[in-house]
Amino acid sequence: MIGHRLSEGLADEFRRVRARTEGIFDRVAPEAFYERPIPLRHPIVFYAGHLDAFNDTRLQRRLGLASLDPVLDRLFERGIDPTDAAAAARHRVAAWPSREEVRAYTGRLRDRLFTSLEGVRSPEEADLYRLLLEHELMHQETLLYMLHQLPYELKRPPTDIAPLPAGRVRPGRMVEVPEGVAVLGQSQGFGWDNEFPRHEVAVPAFAMDATNVTNGDFLAFVDAGGYRRREFWTDRTWAWQAERGVEHPPYWRRVGGEWRLRGMFAETELYWDHPVVVTHAEASAYARYVGKELPSEAEWHRAAGDVPVSVGNFDFRHWSSVPVGAYPPGAHGVHDLVGNGWEWTRTPFGPFEGFVPSEVYPEFSADFFDGAHYVMKGASWFTDRSLVRPSLRNWFYWHYPYMYATFRCVSRS
Ligand code: AVJ
Ligand code: FE
Repeated sequence: MIGHRLSEGLADEFRRVRARTEGIFDRVAPEAFYERPIPLRHPIVFYAGHLDAFNDTRLQRRLGLASLDPVLDRLFERGIDPTDAAAAARHRVAAWPSREEVRAYTGRLRDRLFTSLEGVRSPEEADLYRLLLEHELMHQETLLYMLHQLPYELKRPPTDIAPLPAGRVRPGRMVEVPEGVAVLGQSQGFGWDNEFPRHEVAVPAFAMDATNVTNGDFLAFVDAGGYRRREFWTDRTWAWQAERGVEHPPYWRRVGGEWRLRGMFAETELYWDHPVVVTHAEASAYARYVGKELPSEAEWHRAAGDVPVSVGNFDFRHWSSVPVGAYPPGAHGVHDLVGNGWEWTRTPFGPFEGFVPSEVYPEFSADFFDGAHYVMKGASWFTDRSLVRPSLRNWFYWHYPYMYATFRCVSRS
């Protein structure tokens, strides 16, 4: 009976998650299906096959099933994350299957998923399926930042977006977080390999920005020539921004003498009180400009406390950032630690002591323990509610410009 309810609950969750994925694909004009909005990544069609290919190849591994289509499994099993165009060229696929072929393939895999779900009897067995669900939810965000790069004529806005709330606080204030113990990781329930084991870290007192750095704040850095002042950058970030001619945050655009914001479905004025979306390199340069630094992962946890936050700008509520401080603060007076943009930390992504790679997906985290990826905490407006838990760790390259990632600064005495 319990097992039956468990598998029914999972089946409902797979249906809910897939309905949203389809809602995202519906935002794309059919003629854009083979577009490659991010030149270093696969075209959109890949993501239409990847979700089910990933699910089924995990099931094959765990349940000892035979592949239903080894050629398409191989094509769709894993995405690419090359660092440059030459590496991307090595991954080029000569001919992607038609939309109908992809649909026929994923339909067969999907049937097998629902059949295997009927056999789930224990929470331990359920964990594999939670991993599959969370993988799809993470890719919803991938898809969205990819669609963000498409021309507006190739997109169709949804009709059910909640209007943006008004800002309620003045940005720019700092609050004190007393010394104490931060709890990282977790010991119960589902989590990815990198969330284990739970452990405690002693954190000295520090001061933290009560709100995220806004577009308005960041404009001061741009106007002060921040992108051209060597002292705010490290050797590698300076070389990167000089080589690519980076002069402003990724979603900003200069029209005449005015800054505009490239939103998902329309260009708008540069909302001065929204969190600025930037790379880790830009966030770190700004922090140096104001004489502060990014928080460590442990400091983020200290400020957030270990209570899960239930309100914030996540779960597709607004499909965009909202003014900082629109939601109530946590225990230490810090707003928006969860929601309204992932938060960059100064902590390179790495294993907790005692890390054990996932059995069904050993590359998931371990491939990125390279000193070039940094931990991001919290959630963005495109993070599903079921991914919102304190122990979740996200990460990206320090120069990855697409993620909905923002930041705040800390001062340590
Ligand atoms: C955990 C969000 C960094 O998008 O690269 C999806 C998630 N890994 N498929 C990514 C992921 C493989 C991953 N992040
Ligand atoms: Fe994936």
